[in-house]
Amino acid sequence: MRKEYLRHELKDEQAGDDPFDLFAFWFMDAVRSVGEDANVMCLSTADAEGRPSARMVLLKGFSREGFTFFTNYESRKGRELSGRPYAALTFYWHDLERQVRITGRTAKIPAKESIEYFNARPADSRISAIISPQSDEIPSRGWLEKQRISWIEDNDVKKMKRPAHWGGYRVIPDRIEFWQGRENRLHDRILFTLDSGNWKRSRLAP
Ligand SMILES: Cc1cc2nc3c(=O)[nH]c(=O)nc-3n(C[C@H](O)[C@H](O)[C@H](O)COP(=O)(O)O)c2cc1C
Repeated sequence: MRKEYLRHELKDEQAGDDPFDLFAFWFMDAVRSVGEDANVMCLSTADAEGRPSARMVLLKGFSREGFTFFTNYESRKGRELSGRPYAALTFYWHDLERQVRITGRTAKIPAKESIEYFNARPADSRISAIISPQSDEIPSRGWLEKQRISWIEDNDVKKMKRPAHWGGYRVIPDRIEFWQGRENRLHDRILFTLDSGNWKRSRLAP
């Protein structure tokens, strides 16, 4: 397998001075090119000994405040983030030959925002979020399905509330790198780092 990256380039003037503007621009390109998978990203966290773990999650919003995803606060990632509130996010948009790497501190989003998003989800997804002890060992698939059915029997679906164990995190970036695949492995890498409140742009060797 030997692929050449020929489709795009990332000049300094295209990168501009604002990583959020560039991210928004690339994200819209990704939505156009890969559709509903554009918001799939790899989330990396670390445990108390610094051992990393990574998994895919969905980006559900971004702004200058940060990049938001939703999950179970008591899951493995939730436990790791309460011990070490730092994470890395990695996007790869295959058709565009682009990667974005983001690192930063993490924080739970305000409960109000988690409630709003929870309430906007389909009822079946909400029930699953309530009944699934994400990342814990469970006896069987049947046990999980039984949990779901028992919950529906015992509760009023219309009165369903966000459980305290489920909500959003924001990754508040201090470093955002844009990678554009180029010919002969001479890729473009533009790095933005937060320096006393201002974003500084630099170019890295591929
Ligand atoms: C494409 C894709 C999207 C996913 N999106 C989410 C998500 O938004 N939130 C989430 O908690 N898990 C999501 N998952 C499941 C996670 O990868 C993972 O299995 C789960 O969060 C448990 O991870 P943990 O045990 O490290 O906490 C997604 C998986 C895939 C493959």
